[in-house]
Amino acid sequence: MPVTTALRILTADDVVEQLRALRSRQPVKFSAFYSSQLGGIVTDPALMVIPFDDHMVHRGHGIFDTAAIVAGKIYDLEAHLDRFVRSARNSKLQLPTRDEMRDIIVRTTAASGRRDGSIRYWASSGPGSLSLTPAAGAPPGFFVMIFAGLVYPEAWYTEGLRVMTTTYPIKPPLYAVTKSTNYLPNVLMQMEAQESGLDNGVFIDETGHVGESSNMNVAFVGADGMLKHPRFDHILSGCTSLRLLELAQSLQARKLITGVQVCDIPVVEARAARELMLIGSSIEVAPIVEWDRKPIGDGKPGPVARALRALLEEDMRSGRERLIDVPY
Ligand SMILES: Cc1ncc(COP(=O)(O)O)c(C=O)c1O
Repeated sequence: MPVTTALRILTADDVVEQLRALRSRQPVKFSAFYSSQLGGIVTDPALMVIPFDDHMVHRGHGIFDTAAIVAGKIYDLEAHLDRFVRSARNSKLQLPTRDEMRDIIVRTTAASGRRDGSIRYWASSGPGSLSLTPAAGAPPGFFVMIFAGLVYPEAWYTEGLRVMTTTYPIKPPLYAVTKSTNYLPNVLMQMEAQESGLDNGVFIDETGHVGESSNMNVAFVGADGMLKHPRFDHILSGCTSLRLLELAQSLQARKLITGVQVCDIPVVEARAARELMLIGSSIEVAPIVEWDRKPIGDGKPGPVARALRALLEEDMRSGRERLIDVPY
């Protein structure tokens, strides 16, 4: 933070100027932002703001979700909206109707002109006080950001990732299944891994079962060839995992796996996996080759992770019933 000698009272023009200066020091690839509080869409990143007293900011009383834009179409938005609606219910947040949300998301995407990237949208309990519960009569907020999306190193796919068991406790189930803006454990887990020279962390639950990673699910191929995924009652229900568990049936016919199972996975079993992988909307599917400094399988990216990524990419481009056209 810059040290200021005199603290000026700023005018509205000063504020806009400062917000623009911030964005030029720190360029961001944010293409369009809808805010129910502004009542429209802005494309200047300096204006993509929400009031500080919004309870999403100072109490974390907000939820979000992220869907992908692929070749000018929105992929699997209904699955992401299903989860958003569940998160809102768990968080006692009010939402616009589903049709309104879809319409705003599609129109904000069109206004962005972006044909590949991400759509992140939030619901907040609104501004009006610094208390815990929402201010009386506070209008709930709905926001949509169209941005470049998270980009991961190509080496994660060609050489694989190295992960560690995090020292941070997994979220209790209610908070883990709710995609709220409280990502402190997830942030700390990723920072801890990076500080250890590794790529990411893995949460283990109190009973010694595999949980998930920072913003990705974890799946593995056992010694018997079974593709296994942790149950979704204590981790986020990943839209990518859910879709891949369906698409993976075709790998059985190709004899790449012997079957698909969603079950509790003891850590010892996962450590002995043939293949371990991270799955999510932004990373798609990436192989883990090392866990707590020990190799997984032969320590090289495996065929199932590769095949799953190819299935997902195919679905993202040609799964007609899961794609929404954007009226650019
Ligand atoms: C904690 C957590 N787990 C798993 C996922 C993967 O979910 P999805 O496949 O819907 O991106 C995410 C990403 O949203 C996440 O934040």
